[in-house]
Amino acid sequence: MKKSPDTKAVVLYNKEILPGYFLLGLKWKAAKAAPGQFVMLRTSGGFDPLLRRPLGIYSVINAGGKKTFGDDGIELLYKVVGKGTKILSQKVKGDGIDVLGPLGNGFTLKAEHENKKVILLSGGMGMVPLVFFAKALGSGTALFGCRSKAEVQLASGFKKNGCKLRVATEDGSAGEKGLATDLLKDEITNDSVVYACGPVAMLKATAAIAATVGAVCFVSLERAMACGIGACLGCAVKSGKHSGVYDPSGVIENREYKMVCSDGPVFDGADIDWEAF
Ligand SMILES: Cc1cc2nc3c(=O)[nH]c(=O)nc-3n(C[C@H](O)[C@H](O)[C@H](O)COP(=O)(O)OP(=O)(O)OC[C@H]3O[C@@H](n4cnc5c(N)ncnc54)[C@H](O)[C@@H]3O)c2cc1C
Ligand code: FES
Repeated sequence: MKKSPDTKAVVLYNKEILPGYFLLGLKWKAAKAAPGQFVMLRTSGGFDPLLRRPLGIYSVINAGGKKTFGDDGIELLYKVVGKGTKILSQKVKGDGIDVLGPLGNGFTLKAEHENKKVILLSGGMGMVPLVFFAKALGSGTALFGCRSKAEVQLASGFKKNGCKLRVATEDGSAGEKGLATDLLKDEITNDSVVYACGPVAMLKATAAIAATVGAVCFVSLERAMACGIGACLGCAVKSGKHSGVYDPSGVIENREYKMVCSDGPVFDGADIDWEAF
């Protein structure tokens, strides 16, 4: 298990960019973050909520809040869904927040995939780590799915970071009517490499489409997380490529269960037992 720094961050800004969606800038010296990694935030100073909440990293910023690949802070983009995120939304400039991370293994473009067509596929808040990845890549085809026009603005970071963007909305109020995976069927070839983040149903469909055409596919999984560092075993997912024997030496390839927080959250889509979800 890797040891991660646990430090105090200070709020630079916490802006409501859309109703219920907040962009949180944190001054945080431990921010050597890579696309696809996440942090665990203690939202409350007390015991409720007791557990930290996981959030993906949207970008790395400098102390003035300007977006660069500096290492003075991070930007998070979150949707208010419950108690923890509600408390987070009330933080103001200068407040301190306890942050654990950066955690997990994120997205990388492997040398053997450099000449492939890169597709960044996201649904809803799944766009957060992929916009950060788009910034590192500077190009690619981004496919974004959401419920309606009101959420389309969330995907603007893809265009800003050099990607071609196609949008699908479930109600047809913007872009094409349907799901992000409908757009994927149009764009994918056997020479594509797909990076996906969003609801499990979307990821499962993505892995199946990629397998059908013979494309490479990496998915970022979300699980409820208590510790974020591989200690509680609460975020286990069943691997599709395992020996069936628990391997205490920690050889990842042979373990039946993998931890989303420390083995992932990014996995080869072919290495997940989707039937076990
Ligand atoms: C690795 C990882 C990265 C994440 N990155 C982001 C991000 O960048 N931005 C963001 O907005 N959210 C992200 N999430 C989801 C975020 O962690 C949850 O929305 C948050 O923990 C909810 O806390 P809460 O106390 O507000 O809600 P709770 O009171 O815990 O839950 C309220 C409601 O939200 C639902 N909920 C809780 N967790 C999730 C979840 N993971 N997905 C969908 N619904 C959930 C619950 O089922 C419940 O109905 C991420 C989750 C993981 C595991
Ligand atoms: S959240 Fe504890 S092991 Fe992953």
